[in-house]
Amino acid sequence: MVKTLDDIDIQGRRILVRVDFNVPLSEGEVGDDSRIEAAVPTLRELLEQGATLTLLSHLGRPKGPDKSLTMRPVAARLGNLLGRNVRFRGSDGPASSDSQIFVSEAPEGSVTLLENTRFDPRETRNDPELAKVLAGYGSVFVSDAFGSAHRAHASTEGVARLLPAVAGRLLERELAVLSRLVNAPQKPFKVVLGGAKVSDKIGVIDNLLGVVDEIFIGGAMAYTFIQARGGRVGASLVEGDRHELARAITTRAADLGVALNLPEDSVCAERIDSRAPSAVHASDAIPDGWMGLDIGPEAAEAYANGLRDARTVLWNGPLGVFEIPPFDAGTVAVARAVAAISGFSVVGGGDSVAAVQRSGLAGSIDHVSTGGGASLEFLAGKILPGVAVLTGWLSSPP
Ligand code: 3PG
Repeated sequence: MVKTLDDIDIQGRRILVRVDFNVPLSEGEVGDDSRIEAAVPTLRELLEQGATLTLLSHLGRPKGPDKSLTMRPVAARLGNLLGRNVRFRGSDGPASSDSQIFVSEAPEGSVTLLENTRFDPRETRNDPELAKVLAGYGSVFVSDAFGSAHRAHASTEGVARLLPAVAGRLLERELAVLSRLVNAPQKPFKVVLGGAKVSDKIGVIDNLLGVVDEIFIGGAMAYTFIQARGGRVGASLVEGDRHELARAITTRAADLGVALNLPEDSVCAERIDSRAPSAVHASDAIPDGWMGLDIGPEAAEAYANGLRDARTVLWNGPLGVFEIPPFDAGTVAVARAVAAISGFSVVGGGDSVAAVQRSGLAGSIDHVSTGGGASLEFLAGKILPGVAVLTGWLSSPP
């Protein structure tokens, strides 16, 4: 069990908070702010107890200072969401001398967001010297960065070894929901998996086969399964070296009595282009030169019907090239079906989350995970280093 905000006295303390504000930017502004919004309850709770907050996050994958990935627009958006000033000063990284001075000047009860943690190359090396400087910014470390919990970096793992460290509310809820899926889902438990590669999802499939009742597969990964069974998939994207793996999953699912559904039909085109002529073909008889780019209408209906009686649904990965109409129809149909179930629905992974948001359905999903890679690793049964470090007081007790 991780320690949480309930295990620690916050009153009037200087708190270092790791958030995951790795949000999409569009023309220098925050695109989708769901990750920022998701951290607000924790921040409000801390502020209501008179804490002074210093926030850390990465943004993108810079190898050093990079003006295009400054946290400045994030600070502005956070300020709007919190309805208060968020202190920010551009710098070469969160441990630069400018940043250290800026933190030391923070008034009581204020919120300071430091510059992108990855401007400092020591961050991804989990450098203890960097962790030491960051740990100097507070007397307690709160991790609310579920999306980064699979990274053993200085601001996610290293610093948690040096301060009393607890999970924030967002991280606490992510762990509670995802643990329930792995350990005690209400049945029938049905899983929809999409995306390009079987290899990205194999850990999740393997770990969930023992608890799940039915799996619905879409996205390009379906064509690897279909080709492995001898189907003709034309020019569809496949992982040719994963046929054996696909066959092994199929056999194991059959042995366990888990129905593994593949799309009967596919929306196909010769190019990934919304203006290219498209046609529906049986998924195992796609003509040469044509690619399956979405599950077809029959498959979409069958998947929606199949999900209807689920008490628990997990959906990860789009069913087609959903960014480009008309190849979004299958993903939208499944988003609607998942949103409509009366049981407990969970959506994880950047693309499927974007799909539910774009369809305006996020409000009808019980849990929209803020983690992409982190939720996949957790559901695959892996230990997340940023979580493991919150299970005991590694430094002195508070
Ligand atoms: C994410 O977006 O999945 C997290 O913020 C982690 O980002 P990363 O893959 O660049 O470490």
